[in-house]
Amino acid sequence: MVRVLVLHGPNLNLLGTREPDVYGAQTLADLEAELTALAATLGATLESRQSNHEGVLLDWIHEAASSFDGLVFNPGAFSHTSLALGDAIAGTPLPCVEVHLSNVAAREPVRHHSFLSKHALGVVSGFGFASYTLGLRALCEYLAHSLND
Ligand code: DQA
Repeated sequence: MVRVLVLHGPNLNLLGTREPDVYGAQTLADLEAELTALAATLGATLESRQSNHEGVLLDWIHEAASSFDGLVFNPGAFSHTSLALGDAIAGTPLPCVEVHLSNVAAREPVRHHSFLSKHALGVVSGFGFASYTLGLRALCEYLAHSLND
């Protein structure tokens, strides 16, 4: 069984009420339920965690390699500000798919750069919840090949 850790950064606990025109009307619990169901069909186990604190996210990334095979990570606004989270993704042996609900490339210029993207396996942005489901599928497909090699 492939073990996936899904991380959600700041403000993603507010999904459903936060700018629903940008992020949709469904909640983080709805998203987690959808991802858990999908993981089961992909033969993966999935744990999902959200934090508004950069240091907590750093600690989770550091510890992840002992219990998980890969990461799906929406770093929220920390994408655009956190060299430290970029360094953590560079430093972990785990493959990481960076995901964004909105199309960050189509938004304000400050959202165009992510400190994580160059260290990610890939980036999925702009598809709402499907950014996560596509990211999870891509990660599982990648792991199925790399773990069998
Ligand atoms: C986001 C995009 C970020 O720019 C923003 O700060 C978020 C959410 C997204 O999922 O579209 O908090 O990561």
